[in-house]
Amino acid sequence: MIETENAASTHTIITIINQKGGVGKSTTAVNLSAALGEINRKVLLVDLDPQGNATSGLGVEKAADMKCVYDGLINNEPATNLIVSEVSRGVDIIPATINLAGAEVELMNEYARERRLSELLEPVKANYDFVLIDCPPSLGQLTINGLTAAQRLIIPIQCEFYALEGLTKLLETEKIVKTRMNHDLEILGVLMTMFDKRTTLANQVVEEVSRFFGEIVFKTMIPRTVRLAEAPSFGQSILQYDTHSKGALAYRNLAKEVIDRARTR
Ligand SMILES: Nc1ncnc2c1ncn2[C@@H]1O[C@H](COP(=O)(O)OP(=O)(O)OP(=O)(O)O)[C@@H](O)[C@H]1O
Ligand SMILES: [Mg+2]
Repeated sequence: MIETENAASTHTIITIINQKGGVGKSTTAVNLSAALGEINRKVLLVDLDPQGNATSGLGVEKAADMKCVYDGLINNEPATNLIVSEVSRGVDIIPATINLAGAEVELMNEYARERRLSELLEPVKANYDFVLIDCPPSLGQLTINGLTAAQRLIIPIQCEFYALEGLTKLLETEKIVKTRMNHDLEILGVLMTMFDKRTTLANQVVEEVSRFFGEIVFKTMIPRTVRLAEAPSFGQSILQYDTHSKGALAYRNLAKEVIDRARTR
């Protein structure tokens, strides 16, 4: 069933986080945004990674002189001046360029540095059903800003041998931010990515992660498919690039699960 009216009147800010590199954060940020947009949710995607993969993944050209999330975090540029509208149906983006790389160090000298992103989003968040934040692969200042701004977290975990490595540190950091700065922070779900059902290893990893996290693991798993890896080079979400593919179906299912959980969690 396609839901149309009555989109949640309250926005949910979801940060996609895992300090481990290459686990599917940006792929999830792009395709979950597009899938939510497709069912008439209004989405703001915030690219918080100097690599700018979510930005280019939705076809936004990264010119060096272009304003990006850096200008909001460091130069007090209002979010409305940074937003690129309708990069996919229902999806706006605050892009990242390589300029954002400087923010990691520059934030160290800023007052209330952990809250910069939260403050940047404050005046615009009510315009959206969902704000999704794509984090870089580290637990530095940018990611702390992502944690402080979030209400909910999605933790993508790649179905591979060292899947659980680093998660203790991530959960510790989450707890510190929750206790000190953001009491309402909760994990919305753990997402298994690059799942290949034919391999014993992938199935073992899912079992292990489920034992560790229990119910919090999303029922939807993202399959490993070449189409998902190809789509960003065309600046398109998987929904556009190959709308009937397994990857597109998976992200549509994830969007439904996210909407359900955001209501109750
Ligand atoms: N389900 C999938 N099937 C096949 N390839 C995938 C899938 N998900 C992601 N990839 C590919 O794996 C690589 C890493 O994915 P992605 O960039 O989403 O991870 P990331 O966690 O954002 O990485 P980083 O930590 O560098 O930001 C990319 O080349 C991407 O295209
Ligand atoms: Mg990424």
